[in-house]
Amino acid sequence: MAEHIQVTRSLFDDVMVPNYAPAKMIPVKGRGSRVWDQEGREYVDFAGGIAVSSLGHCHPAMVSALTEQAGKLWHLSNVLTNEPALRLASKLVQQTFAEKVFFANSGAEANEAAFKLARRWALDTHGEHKQDIISFSKSFHGRTFFTVTVGGQASYSDGFGPKPGAVLHAEFNNLDSVKALISERTCAVVLEPIQGEGGIIPATKEFLAGVRALCDEHQALLVMDEVQTGVGRTGQLYAYMNYGVIPDILTTAKSLGGGFPIGAMLTSTEIAKHLKVGTHGTTYGGNPLACAVAEAVIDTINTPEVLQGVLAKEQLFRQRLDAINEQYQVFSEVRGKGMLLGAVLNEQYQGRARDFFLAAADHGLMALVAGVNVVRFAPSLVITEQDIQDGMDRFEKAVAQVVNAA
Ligand SMILES: Cc1ncc(COP(=O)(O)O)c(C=O)c1O
Repeated sequence: MAEHIQVTRSLFDDVMVPNYAPAKMIPVKGRGSRVWDQEGREYVDFAGGIAVSSLGHCHPAMVSALTEQAGKLWHLSNVLTNEPALRLASKLVQQTFAEKVFFANSGAEANEAAFKLARRWALDTHGEHKQDIISFSKSFHGRTFFTVTVGGQASYSDGFGPKPGAVLHAEFNNLDSVKALISERTCAVVLEPIQGEGGIIPATKEFLAGVRALCDEHQALLVMDEVQTGVGRTGQLYAYMNYGVIPDILTTAKSLGGGFPIGAMLTSTEIAKHLKVGTHGTTYGGNPLACAVAEAVIDTINTPEVLQGVLAKEQLFRQRLDAINEQYQVFSEVRGKGMLLGAVLNEQYQGRARDFFLAAADHGLMALVAGVNVVRFAPSLVITEQDIQDGMDRFEKAVAQVVNAA
């Protein structure tokens, strides 16, 4: 008989590589926007697994898609194609600018594919000189060595030896800084429509339109990383739709699987053709289980009711955060859109986002930080009004705790 293992938080330190520092409690069950730990303590979930659980925990549509597919076929590899992958790809193509889809297993892998495609496209269409990738300070694109190098936080990419080259960083929302770097050598400009990990910083409309124009002028591709903003999170299926600026390549993950690992890269036929047979691949990308779940996620989210609901929930979040701020004066602003919001700490509380996050957990609320100055909320897109009210009651207590301890 298999040995019974007593699971406690200290087991993490015994058996896991120490690159994470998880909370003390261990969650064991989730339903909608509520989570319970081993002790039966209940939490309201405003974190959504870092903007992943787009339909909350154990949504019936996802459970039914997963269990139905689990009884049919789990895995084939890309030596063969499968029905869920082709259905999901068709829906992504129908509902976005894209004509072609590549499936991966995570955001980083979708971006890795995007950057490799951009480089290959540039090599084929212009030649070896066209290899610069322009990205932005504070951006985040994943943790593979290429994606973390493109990301704008040296603290994540330093310390692993020589980095992939020809990656340049401009300043987000500063078109002049892009103009200073872009040239005939540029193969792509890569950006998040709302910088997530960097602190919930939305691109301005002028900036995004300006970057699009610069890319056109210099025959460079515009790659939008919608790993955090995609799949309804900002009240549109993809955030580019809020701006009316069309990317050449878009990456999506997180909310797409709602908790089942999947990523995708979307692009045009003209660009896609440069990833010929054998140029790129992955064993699991397009896995039938993942694609069946993602199809249920897209079907459920891409409706006027859910997308408008996201904007109505944003209003409730903002009202409650404004009221908390009126009483305690801790934030300078609330940034972001839909169910991707950042409460930015004012001068007095600089560097203390983690204190608010920890106090929230004390009061039964799962929140997030985005850097040291922003408390981030990325809940389910279908979180109920009651869950928002209860979560905000808890957050208010957490804010009071931090303020009163000062
Ligand atoms: C904008 C963005 N891109 C890429 C990633 C990486 O995704 P993953 O962790 O699934 O590799 C993230 C993760 O936080 C992200 O926010």
